[in-house]
Amino acid sequence: SDPHLVERARAAKARLGGKVFILGHHYQRDEVIEFADVTGDSFKLARDAAGRPEAEYIVFCGVHFMAESADILTSERQQVILPDLAAGCSMADMASAEQVAECWDVLADAGVADVTVPVSYMNSSADIKAFTGRHGGTICTSSNAERALEWAFGQGEKVLFLPDQHLGRNTAVRDLGLSPADCVVYNPHKPGGGLTVEQLRAAKMILWRGHCSVHGRFSLESVEDVRSRIPGVNVLVHPECKHEVVGAADYVGSTEHIIQKLAEAPAGSAWALGTELNLVRRLAKAHPDKQIVFLDKTVCFCSTMNRIDLPHLVWTLESLADGKVVNRIQVDAETEHFAKLALEQMLALP
Ligand code: 13P
Ligand code: SF4
Repeated sequence: SDPHLVERARAAKARLGGKVFILGHHYQRDEVIEFADVTGDSFKLARDAAGRPEAEYIVFCGVHFMAESADILTSERQQVILPDLAAGCSMADMASAEQVAECWDVLADAGVADVTVPVSYMNSSADIKAFTGRHGGTICTSSNAERALEWAFGQGEKVLFLPDQHLGRNTAVRDLGLSPADCVVYNPHKPGGGLTVEQLRAAKMILWRGHCSVHGRFSLESVEDVRSRIPGVNVLVHPECKHEVVGAADYVGSTEHIIQKLAEAPAGSAWALGTELNLVRRLAKAHPDKQIVFLDKTVCFCSTMNRIDLPHLVWTLESLADGKVVNRIQVDAETEHFAKLALEQMLALP
C-alpha cells in the first residue's frame, strides 16, 4: 500500500491516542487490518466494541450491520463510525422490516406466530434485530448459532430464522439433528411466503430466503474438484455455504474458528478454505509451512467489505483528529431499545 498513506494513518491515529478504538473484521484488506486494535469474527467484535467504554470513537472496519450493532451495544456518549457508508451486506439487504412484518402476519394467520421464536443472524439490519427483540427472540452469529437455536427451541415450538437460510439449515440439521424436511423456506417475494398453512404448521424451522452471494458461489463441484487436485486436502468452510457444500466439507466454522483451526494444523497439511478471499490470502501468507488454497477455481472478495480501504481509513482518522465526526452510524432510540434486548439475549446465551 501507498507508504505516504500509511504514514498519514499512523500520524492521525497517534494524534487521536486513546480516544479512538479501531475494530477490523477478518474479511478486511491487509492495509486496513494493519491499523486495527482488535480483529475478530462478528461475535468477538460485538463484544469487543461493548468492552471499550473509554473510547470516544469506535471506528468499525467491517460492514454496516456490524457498525449498527456496535452503536447499540456502546454507550450514548460513544460514536461509531463506518469509514465508507457504502459498505453494506447483500444478505442483510434481503430482509426488510416491511417484509418481516408481513411474514409475521402470515404466521399469525396460520395460527403459529404464538409458538414461533425469531432467531436473527447478526447479518441483518437494526430493524430486523428490533423485530426479533420485540417478539422475544435472539440474535446469533456463526459462532453461537447452535446455542441460539437450542435456546429458542426451549422457548417455543418453531423458529423463524432470518435472513440466511443456509446458516439456519446447516445449524438445524448438522448440529441439532433436525431433518431437512423439518425446514421450509419462506420466500418474501411470494404471497404467503410461497407456503401453505399446512406447511407452516408442520415445519420446525421457517428459513428466510436469504443467502450470502460470496459463500453461495461454492458448490459441490468445487469440493470434488479440489479433492481430486490435492489428495488429502482438508476442506474447511464457513456455515454460510450451501447445505450440500457443508455436508461435503471436513470442517465448518466462523472466521475466528477457521483461523484457530489453521493455527493448530500440522506443518505440511493442505487446506481448501470456503470463505472470503482477503482472509484466505492472509492465512496462506501467515502459514508458509501449509498449503492453503481458495476452495473455488475463481476467487472472490466480498465487494462491500472491500470498500473500506486505506484512503477511506485515512480520511476518517484525519477528520476525527481534526475534531470532525464523519460517517457516524446511529440507530434511533426505539429501534435500539428492542434490538438491544435481542443482542443482550445473544450475549447471555449459555
Ligand atoms: P463471522 O461471524 O464468521 O466473522 O462471519 C461474518 C460474515 O459476514 C461472514 O460472511
Ligand atoms: Fe455479507 Fe456475505 Fe459479505 Fe459476509 S461475506 S458481509 S454475509 S455479503
